[in-house]
Amino acid sequence: MSTNAEILSQIIRNRRSVFPEDYIQKEIPIPIIEQILESANYAPTHKLTQPWRFTVIRKGAKAKLGEELGKIYQSIVPSNKFLQKKYDSFGQKTSQADCILAINIQFHEDKVPNWEEIAAVGCAVQNMALTAEALNVGAYWSSPPLIDHLGAFLGLAENEKCYGLFYMGYHNAEPRQANRTPMADKVKWLEG
Ligand SMILES: Cc1cc2nc3c(=O)[nH]c(=O)nc-3n(C[C@H](O)[C@H](O)[C@H](O)COP(=O)(O)O)c2cc1C
Repeated sequence: MSTNAEILSQIIRNRRSVFPEDYIQKEIPIPIIEQILESANYAPTHKLTQPWRFTVIRKGAKAKLGEELGKIYQSIVPSNKFLQKKYDSFGQKTSQADCILAINIQFHEDKVPNWEEIAAVGCAVQNMALTAEALNVGAYWSSPPLIDHLGAFLGLAENEKCYGLFYMGYHNAEPRQANRTPMADKVKWLEG
């Protein structure tokens, strides 16, 4: 029998970013989406500001998001840099995914610095990614610069900002090894 630590370690190590091209057309049941979201709520948070906010984008709203990303791309990219393939990719990815969570942050500048809110949301998203892995749901955090312009589409308040799109879908991706350099290269021990 595996210990909790072994199970946790296996989920952490097996989690990979799984991209929309590997998703299959199979609906993620709402209780599963809720279970993934619920994990976010257990992330650590300084002064309990709980800054994570999510917008669940499913069904017809995915096509609307794809169109919106295309419109934003068209409006910010200089016409000589416009790539039709890139433009088309927004609609493709949003239709390949079964569910997309807009990762939003509500800032509380009177309580904690913004970096602490961003760090807390990073923890929340990792909780979701690990839960998705445990439930065999593929997911990845997408952060194109276009997300800076999604506030109106998502109906965000003044003190809220979108930090990414968490694409999710059941998938057929082959398991892959994590691509990492040794941890020993990144750790300094002070003991004396
Ligand atoms: C904050 C954040 C933003 C990311 N943005 C993107 C992105 O815009 N496009 C992308 O392909 N991957 C993005 N990723 C996923 C990384 O590419 C991925 O985590 C990395 O390649 C390591 O692979 P793994 O997640 O399978 O271990 C992002 C990850 C994080 C944590």
